[in-house]
Amino acid sequence: MQPYDKLLNDNKAWAARMLAEDPEYFERLEHLQTPQFLWIGCSDSRVPADRITGTHPGEIFVHRNIANLVIHTDVNLLSVLEFAVVHLKVQHVIVCGHYGCGGIKAAMTNHDYKQVLNMWLRNIKDVYRLHKEELDAIEDVEERANLLTELNVKEQVMHLAKTSIIQRAWKSDQRPQLHGWVYGLSNGIIKPVFEMDANTPIDPLYMYDDL
Ligand code: CO
Repeated sequence: MQPYDKLLNDNKAWAARMLAEDPEYFERLEHLQTPQFLWIGCSDSRVPADRITGTHPGEIFVHRNIANLVIHTDVNLLSVLEFAVVHLKVQHVIVCGHYGCGGIKAAMTNHDYKQVLNMWLRNIKDVYRLHKEELDAIEDVEERANLLTELNVKEQVMHLAKTSIIQRAWKSDQRPQLHGWVYGLSNGIIKPVFEMDANTPIDPLYMYDDL
């Protein structure tokens, strides 16, 4: 038996269990996708969006990447965002980071992770640069990483607000609300750290006039 066979076997057991509890479960889900939430989280295997929020299939639309970054040239993320906001009409977009994030820690070192990872992590270094004084003042490396994790989440939420996708939805129907959260690996608790909605002023430099 291969390690992946466990996944396939557990999947069969799960499907059988769901059917036993509710014979129409899959039939209903097949025709229904109306999630209220878009989750932009870290790829870290310890932060499964639905498990830690107690949400069920159909309730949360998910995008995950290393250190939950919102990058304006990331066609993957932008497609997910546009689909969730314009077509699924989600009410909330949540960027959820987590303490102990390997991506955040890696970006705080001078290690050469080679081309592609260096490119990705540079976005986090840019967040560090914006808050360098505040971060450098913290002696404890762990504490400094924790603050950078919170500042990173806040920055990524602001990146969302800079997109015409969000600005157009804010203008036309006053949604979605944007949230920046940080999950604690050590206690399982999510801490909300930042919020923006259609009434939050944004830097005029990033505002579109022809929405
Ligand atoms: Co992470």
